[in-house]
Amino acid sequence: MKKISQFIIASALIIAPGAMSADLINVSTPATSLVLDATKGEPLKILHYGSKLNSKDMEAFKSASTFNHMAYPVYGIQPQGESALSVTHNDGNRSTDLEVVDVVTEEMNGATITSVLMHDKVYPFEVKLNYKVRPDYDVIETWADITNNEKGNVTLNRFMSGYLPLRYGNVWLSSLYGSWANEAELNQEPLTHGLKMIKNKDGVRNSHTAHAEVMFSLDGEPRENSGRVIGAALCYPGNYKLFIDTDDSNYHHFFAGINEENSEYLLKKGETFSTPELALTYSEEGLSGASRNFHKWGRDNRLHAGDKERKVLLNSWEGVYFDINEPVMAGMMEDIASMGGELFVMDDGWFGRKYPRNSDNSSLGDWMVDTNKLPNGINGLLETAKKNGISFGIWIEPEMANTVSELYEKHPEYIIKAPKRPVIEGRGGTQVVLDLSNPKVQDLVFEVVDTLMTKYPEIDYIKWDANAPIMEHGSQYLTSDNQSHLYIDYHKGLIKTLDRIREAHPDVTIQACASGGGRANWGILPWFDEFWTSDNNDALQRIYMQWGTSYFFPAIAMASHISASPNHQTFRRIPTKFRADVAMSGRLGLEMQPKDMNEDDKAICMQAIEDYKKIRPIVQFGDLYRLQSPFDKKGVASLMYVTAEKDDAVFFWWKTETFMNQQLPRIPMAGLDPDKVYKVNEINRIDKEPLTFEGKEFTGKFLMSNGLEMPLTYNVDYNKNTDFSSRVLHLTEVK
Ligand code: GLA
Repeated sequence: MKKISQFIIASALIIAPGAMSADLINVSTPATSLVLDATKGEPLKILHYGSKLNSKDMEAFKSASTFNHMAYPVYGIQPQGESALSVTHNDGNRSTDLEVVDVVTEEMNGATITSVLMHDKVYPFEVKLNYKVRPDYDVIETWADITNNEKGNVTLNRFMSGYLPLRYGNVWLSSLYGSWANEAELNQEPLTHGLKMIKNKDGVRNSHTAHAEVMFSLDGEPRENSGRVIGAALCYPGNYKLFIDTDDSNYHHFFAGINEENSEYLLKKGETFSTPELALTYSEEGLSGASRNFHKWGRDNRLHAGDKERKVLLNSWEGVYFDINEPVMAGMMEDIASMGGELFVMDDGWFGRKYPRNSDNSSLGDWMVDTNKLPNGINGLLETAKKNGISFGIWIEPEMANTVSELYEKHPEYIIKAPKRPVIEGRGGTQVVLDLSNPKVQDLVFEVVDTLMTKYPEIDYIKWDANAPIMEHGSQYLTSDNQSHLYIDYHKGLIKTLDRIREAHPDVTIQACASGGGRANWGILPWFDEFWTSDNNDALQRIYMQWGTSYFFPAIAMASHISASPNHQTFRRIPTKFRADVAMSGRLGLEMQPKDMNEDDKAICMQAIEDYKKIRPIVQFGDLYRLQSPFDKKGVASLMYVTAEKDDAVFFWWKTETFMNQQLPRIPMAGLDPDKVYKVNEINRIDKEPLTFEGKEFTGKFLMSNGLEMPLTYNVDYNKNTDFSSRVLHLTEVK
């Protein structure tokens, strides 16, 4: 690690010295710049965030800039505006006044961190604002380290990760909202005067309802592949608050950080509180461009094992629910192996001795194999998997217990519960949340995974569920003056535990399930390989949910399964081909009992698995270009993935509604090389005759300015017609 104080070796290293006394810092990435004025003795100011500035622009900026805001507004002096930080000092003073003391840059694991050290003008209270960049990524991560050197506690009343002023104008916000089984719906609206707030207070999971990520389209109504966009993703798995205050100042003031409500933090003398990172990106290639920036940065730097291809799996949940037993598991393993799958995951229902887990009303916490259901235990299942040439995975929910469990009988003090009040129970009428602020609970959760992995090192995959929010504010572990730390210390404890787990077991694939969709956040993904996108497997609704999720998260992280028809959530009947075509645009899996499939459906799934293996590297590592939004209600949705070399691409097209003689727009493609020639092959084909353009060659220019005409229906026998239609085209460069 190399540390350099800019004030010692002169800020001229970064900016040519000029007549002005301003010390400008250009925190830059390949295509973007964030410019700060870090003049010693003054508050830190932000002058620019957007396109990359060169030294000429920087020189002019010293005198010409009008964009002149505190980079981290603090509460107390001129307290009318919103602030990023609000503190009650040890003597009760609620005002803070920061000035720049030093700027330090350091190299750490290939990243450069620029830190601006500020202190209060009269109190020994420090704030270090950090900006982290990596050479190949257009993402800047910012966070604050807040240190109390006063003679006793200070209280942090608000402690945001970052702030960004956006010039008032025709600025549109894209954000995600939803609810369980309807996650990641897209909301797009112009920013108007007043306050827009996006928040979470679940305590445990944080993306079922709103998401902790947003995008701002700076040039009016959002466009996918053109226009200036700023994206922001708060990397935090707990309660968050993002808000935009549009006041009379010609700026939209954007703040993002931990939700401070009922979470004021008592910082002891000598202690430092570090906020989670806020990841910022800027693109001039529209919303899809900002998504690509997040995807690339996330895959390479945050998602666990983001460079490793994900396996095609069968998950047992919707196939058999709690009816787990050895012959059924063995049958499912044989079936998925024979269909070309690579992994089988045994879901809920395999554990519990005194209280066998036959429904959701007992046993969480008792992670012992139910030998009535599985007489040969996990080893028996691992052997069957091996015999079939596939890997084996298992479901756990280690942050939770049921009040009907041996764990709860032994340790009622381990659960989250308010003093003097009855236990509030969730799922199944008995589910409770373990108190991860308690180090003993952290050990317990670590041991759940460590014991499994030590006893059965061949376990390849863990589905880590979390099916309850914090249902009452109360820690039986934290002292009475620290009760407001519950939400934050829960997640500190979780991350500490995940760190230990990953240190001991770096190779096991772990899915963040969280009731489906509850943990799609960059703050949790460093320890997880993927998330369960939603408990809703309905292919039509998945088009919408996966579209929204793709704004911030890459396909490799988005688990997407072909499930039964009628669907178990919406009861909609959708043909297998369409279900497969939707699931193939994410991390493909199956979630049904293969024995219930007829031969035709099985053949389609097998074809899909075979075809998916061909396009898997493009879907899982390629660049995403969203083309036609389902939210635009044009009757069709479409997106594509293109390799970095632009030599291989896959185009997805799904009809989202059907009417007779319906007119659908033709979809021009994007992201190809206009000068390259591509051969088009339909994959996952069920038509009797190939499409007219099958095997034909087109220039990237033609495909991007015209696109290909898709037939409205499948060309199948009359009795096999359905009201759904979808296409997946593989485009390969002709060299
Ligand atoms: C949650 C998950 C499901 C399944 C069940 C098991 O609802 O989201 O996928 O694992 O729990 O109880």
